Amino acid sequence: MKEELVDRETRGSTRREFLRRSGLAIAGAALVPNLLVSSESRAQGSGMEKSSKKIRMGIVGGGFGAAFYWHLDPNCIVEAVSDLREDRRNHLKNVYKCDKAYNSLEELIKDTNVDAVAVFTGAPDHVKHAVACMKAGKHVISAVPACISMEQAEQLLAAKKSTGLKYMMAETSYYHQTMISARQFYKEGKFGDIYYTEAEYLHPHDEATIKALWYGPNGERTWRWAFPPMLYPTHATSLLVGLTGERLVEVSCIGWGDGDPALKGNPYNNEFWNETALFKTDKGHAFRVSINWKGAFGGCERAQWYGSKMSLFDPSANGMGAIIRRTSGQMEKDEAGFARAAAELEPFSPPNWPEMLLPKSMRVSGGHGGSEPFLTHEFIDALANDREPAIDIYEALAITVPGIIAHKSACKGGVQMKVPTLG
Ligand SMILES: NC(=O)c1ccc[n+]([C@@H]2O[C@H](COP(=O)([O-])OP(=O)(O)OC[C@H]3O[C@@H](n4cnc5c(N)ncnc54)[C@H](O)[C@@H]3O)[C@@H](O)[C@H]2O)c1
Repeated sequence: MKEELVDRETRGSTRREFLRRSGLAIAGAALVPNLLVSSESRAQGSGMEKSSKKIRMGIVGGGFGAAFYWHLDPNCIVEAVSDLREDRRNHLKNVYKCDKAYNSLEELIKDTNVDAVAVFTGAPDHVKHAVACMKAGKHVISAVPACISMEQAEQLLAAKKSTGLKYMMAETSYYHQTMISARQFYKEGKFGDIYYTEAEYLHPHDEATIKALWYGPNGERTWRWAFPPMLYPTHATSLLVGLTGERLVEVSCIGWGDGDPALKGNPYNNEFWNETALFKTDKGHAFRVSINWKGAFGGCERAQWYGSKMSLFDPSANGMGAIIRRTSGQMEKDEAGFARAAAELEPFSPPNWPEMLLPKSMRVSGGHGGSEPFLTHEFIDALANDREPAIDIYEALAITVPGIIAHKSACKGGVQMKVPTLG
């Protein structure tokens, strides 16, 4: 999951060598031709589309907001940056090679040269800021989560509907390299029916993490202080919603806390470090999601998809690499087109998606499973070609809202609750 995308030439030849030696070349080769004609390739932008339109971006939030690649996209110009903090404004100016900086989002959105804004402020403010941008006539890409309450979800949807502007949620798990492969396998029908999925976002909050995330530069508490796990569900929920398009319609969730003083008197009235939910999907499938902040685990954002014909296991923090398991007797075609019995269990390594899907200038090493260049390009490509982005408002809400209801369920001791679908 944490695989870094090193120099593409080196990585390409290393990978080809690995495939040759491990006999996995067939899986990779079979993916490529399908991908080149797939709707994902077109929607995603293969780098072959040549819209000459330039999108002028305003980037707000110099923490995680500085981790993207706006300055490398051929269809993007970074017009302006903003943060309330001077050090972070300067950081954004350096990263994106942009001299124009505003002291706040509220000032930046008055700039008529800005077409679209990347909102990377704290989670409780995403809706307030995204709505302000849209009301000022700007398209929006927002950090996760899209919203943290049902009232916010409705406000966001209303702003999108009334302005008709484009909205995208920058969910990194959506473009993890195994997840891109999973979407390709799904389109090809390789899984059969995915009847059960497990997904988890495990982010250990040790002392150093708490110090870094829960306290601001002047020792003040940040929005992350005791943030309820299920209000941050998207790194896990996207791994099913973003694969099959299913909607999560019911949930029962159990929370765990230990009475730690840190969990007393927080603005969310949250008493849980960890929450685990069992969702029912609109196809009647089961989906187990865990969001954990405290315990004996390694950090990860991963899924395991159980299909009637094939299952796929994301790499785990416990040493297991990505693995495919098939039911016995499955057949597949080799490079020459001959049928052969597929291995029941085999290690899986995603193909070089950046080389296949991104413009040359954007094939860089990106964090969060290599997802950041993909998110950058998807948003710009959608605007340049006047289409809705992959994680549009409806997908964003379908990924975010189930967590809001799951947290409500946990607060009521795990009672089964209906999840409203907003589209
Ligand atoms: N994998 C992922 O998808 C991922 C990873 C990290 C963070 N995030 C999300 O990205 C967002 C940003 O994360 P972060 O760690 O940088 O948070 P942060 O709280 O450290 O940074 C937010 C920044 O926004 C600035 N800001 C707030 N209001 C502003 C305004 N009105 N005008 C200008 N600037 C303003 C703040 O000064 C601050 O520097 C969060 O919502 C977080 O949930 C997502």
